[in-house]
Amino acid sequence: MHNFQYYTPTKVVFGKDTEKQTGSLVKEQGGKKVLIHYGGGSVIRSGLLDRVKASLAAEHMDFVELGGAVPNPRLGLVYEGIELCKKEGVDFILAVGGGSAIDSAKAIGYGAVNEGDVWDFYDYKRQPSRCLPIGVVLTIAATGSEMSDSSVITKEDGWIKRGYSNDLSRPRFAVMNPDLTKTLPDYQTACGCTDILMHTMERYFTNGGNMEITDSMAEALMRTVIKNAKILAEDPLNYDARAEILWAGSLSHNGLTGCGNAGGDFASHALEHEIGGLFDVAHGAGLAAIWGSWARYVYQNCLPRFHRFAVNVMGIEDLGAPDDTALKGICAMEDFYRAIHMPTSLQELGIAPTDGDLKTMARKCAVAAGGQKGSAMVLHEDDMLAIYRMAEFGPEKAAAH
Ligand code: NZQ
Ligand code: ZN
Repeated sequence: MHNFQYYTPTKVVFGKDTEKQTGSLVKEQGGKKVLIHYGGGSVIRSGLLDRVKASLAAEHMDFVELGGAVPNPRLGLVYEGIELCKKEGVDFILAVGGGSAIDSAKAIGYGAVNEGDVWDFYDYKRQPSRCLPIGVVLTIAATGSEMSDSSVITKEDGWIKRGYSNDLSRPRFAVMNPDLTKTLPDYQTACGCTDILMHTMERYFTNGGNMEITDSMAEALMRTVIKNAKILAEDPLNYDARAEILWAGSLSHNGLTGCGNAGGDFASHALEHEIGGLFDVAHGAGLAAIWGSWARYVYQNCLPRFHRFAVNVMGIEDLGAPDDTALKGICAMEDFYRAIHMPTSLQELGIAPTDGDLKTMARKCAVAAGGQKGSAMVLHEDDMLAIYRMAEFGPEKAAAH
């Protein structure tokens, strides 16, 4: 059992119509001049943005707006937001949308109150001393950014996608109404479910020791997400399933499912970030496309965890040798991805990287990780390249060659 810190300062306001409380929540945090930050327009089409503005207006709150945060949010818009905050004297940022709007808001929050280039933080050159307070009205269950300390930004020059974590950016509040996620395209719902699962799986597949209560919560979370993702694939308007997934998304990435374990693996995320940086794919789909290859590459090195996962999460009967059971668990997870129409290879993801692209991604991944990544198995650049090559057409086809 490892020492840990668990810090979750985010006030969660969960359930139907909760977006009506946004104005009073900003007021409670002392916000006076608000930047409302959102994505490509889904919040305009759904009418949510108007309802949020009405809630701010009811509290006599002054606000400015900046839309346009794209999936894999860009540094260029972050710079624009920083300038706007400085010009308008913004003291609170309200992200209305998904992980991309929230992450972009966090980066703007750092840049608005720290000197110098905000990219320095994402380039691990220096640390910020402050961040503007952030509030969230969430529209997609996925990244957990509404409670996490992380933000992931893509620099257009070189298409470098980097994550940066600091408690300063943990949102002050998160409004979570499951009804708001009902307008999501099925593909985005499935991407979100995949990402939620992965945030717990990254913390679960470790070699450095774990804590029983954390493992049990992690397994319950994974079973719940798998069950409700399948329900949503058939019945996308099911409120209760939406609610289960929405809350799971926050719990999966606020630190809870990692307490007392050895810090997590996060190699699948590192590998995906390079795919997303170069090919601009949806994060969850990128994770599904890489996970099976990663799992098959590393499972022998982390057999007890893969065995336990197979039995306790995927429901595999424990009859054969542990490695056989573990492999069946990996196959069952890939079957789940197929059931919710997620890809299990780069080809199914819809990209066709050249071998040069795969080498570039492996190189960038190793550099971003400081040379090596992972706990289930420590990966170096040559391992990363091998996994990318396995993932090209899927691990089963790779094994057949
Ligand atoms: O941009 P709009 O028009 O809002 O459309 C979005 C976008 O096209 C749409 N959408 C969201 N809510 C909707 C909706 N469409 C209809 N109805 C709704 N209710 O869905 C698309 C995806 O939205 P986005 O915000 O990009 O999704 P997500 O929440 O998955 O965020 C992905 C980004 O977060 C990063 C990812 O790498 C990626 O850049 N991550 C952030 C993390 C963090 N901060 O802790 C951790 C994650 O591992 C991840 O890396
Ligand atoms: Zn993720």
